[in-house]
Amino acid sequence: MQSTVYIEDILNHRANDGTEVTLQGWLYHKRSSGKLLFLLVRDGTGIMQCTLFKPSLDAKTVEAAEGLSQEASLTITGTVHKDDRAPGGYELQVSGVTPMGSSVDYPITPKEHGPEFLMDYRHLWLRSKNQHAILRIRHTIIKAIRDFFDNRGFTLVDTPIFTPAACEGTSTLFETDYFDTKAYLTQSGQLYAEAGAMAFGKAYCFGPTFRAEKSKTRRHLTEFWMVEPEVAFADLADNMVLAEQFLEYIVQTVLKDRAEELTTLERDTTKLENVKAPFPRVHYDEAVKILKEAGLPFEYGNDFGAPDETAISEKFDRPVIIHHYPSAVKSFYMKRDPGEPDKALAMDILAPEGYGEIVGGSQREDDYEVLLARIKEHKLPAEAFDWYLDLRRYGTVPHSGFGLGVERTVAWICGLQHVRETIPFARMIHRLKP
Ligand code: 4AD
Ligand code: MG
Repeated sequence: MQSTVYIEDILNHRANDGTEVTLQGWLYHKRSSGKLLFLLVRDGTGIMQCTLFKPSLDAKTVEAAEGLSQEASLTITGTVHKDDRAPGGYELQVSGVTPMGSSVDYPITPKEHGPEFLMDYRHLWLRSKNQHAILRIRHTIIKAIRDFFDNRGFTLVDTPIFTPAACEGTSTLFETDYFDTKAYLTQSGQLYAEAGAMAFGKAYCFGPTFRAEKSKTRRHLTEFWMVEPEVAFADLADNMVLAEQFLEYIVQTVLKDRAEELTTLERDTTKLENVKAPFPRVHYDEAVKILKEAGLPFEYGNDFGAPDETAISEKFDRPVIIHHYPSAVKSFYMKRDPGEPDKALAMDILAPEGYGEIVGGSQREDDYEVLLARIKEHKLPAEAFDWYLDLRRYGTVPHSGFGLGVERTVAWICGLQHVRETIPFARMIHRLKP
């Protein structure tokens, strides 16, 4: 009996050798050799070699198959056959082909294309093997993120995208009309996640965030996804432990569940296998020493730039936690260390292999008066933060949290040069299409 199956069902041995099946998909590649015609068919779940032995088929079937061009859609019927020479170890011995949608002059051919061309055709580029692998890994990373927090008693608190004020500095705000006032696209859900932590103890938000990044770098998008846990009664040390366990869980889950995709991307996984807690903890002052020793022209008190982050992370075989940044270069809501009043109880995690900052977090200022003074110092509109100050007015507690950027995490785990390939449709300073 013939039934419609997915290619992954065959490759995962859920369809037996010798059974007749029907696949629905798109032509990935076609090649002929004497009396044989090989169609590589993809259906989103895998790629299957479908072989036609022309002398045993009627002329109409052969003609239909020969007329297929790259990315034409089709239905194809045949018998599953174990064959070690075929990709995946199985091939389909074809008995029938029905073309569906034609595909004339498909723009992405097996030859090399430049990145801008491919980004212009992103809606089609998603079908290519490497892009498919990257987005499946992204999917697994997002699932791992959610599983990690869900399994530890965190409650998901969705935070708004229209907000009344800045969270991460006024220079990267996207402003939009909101009836007779202005709204800003959220830069971070953190302030609302803090309200969530006071309500649920452990909360997290996870959604798109927006920054009007004017610089063109390989790490910056204007729209990116961030997950932000927030925990009541947690200090900076607790925050670091949560973050390192979280990163270990994500990386180890991808290694386990997406081995095939990592192979497709030719990712050297030995470096990922190292990602096990605990991670080294490095004080800002110590990190500056590393830079001086490496001969980099770094001025004490600044935030680290990309070359600085690379130089620091090269000293370690796994992600490294930098803590106690000068509060002058960090956000208004970060608590200062009473023992080092010019330093914030902040931490960033730098990924290995030059991927830079993937996590930013801190213990939050929990004192009403101090927080109000910081809001004024940073020239933020106090009236937009009255609700946030209420969290300090009514039962304030020490609390901490962090944000992990999904795209930088995907770039690192997949070993990609640029974040533009880590999200289905990237938004950057010069890209709003497709
Ligand atoms: O360090 P950031 O700005 O921290 C926050 O937004 C805090 N509110 C998080 C918190 O404590 N709840 O951003 C956090 C992470 C960065 O480490 C980076 O991974 C990512 O978000 N990120 C970006 N990713 C892509 N493109 C951009 N323009 C990014 N800006 C930040
Ligand atoms: Mg940061």
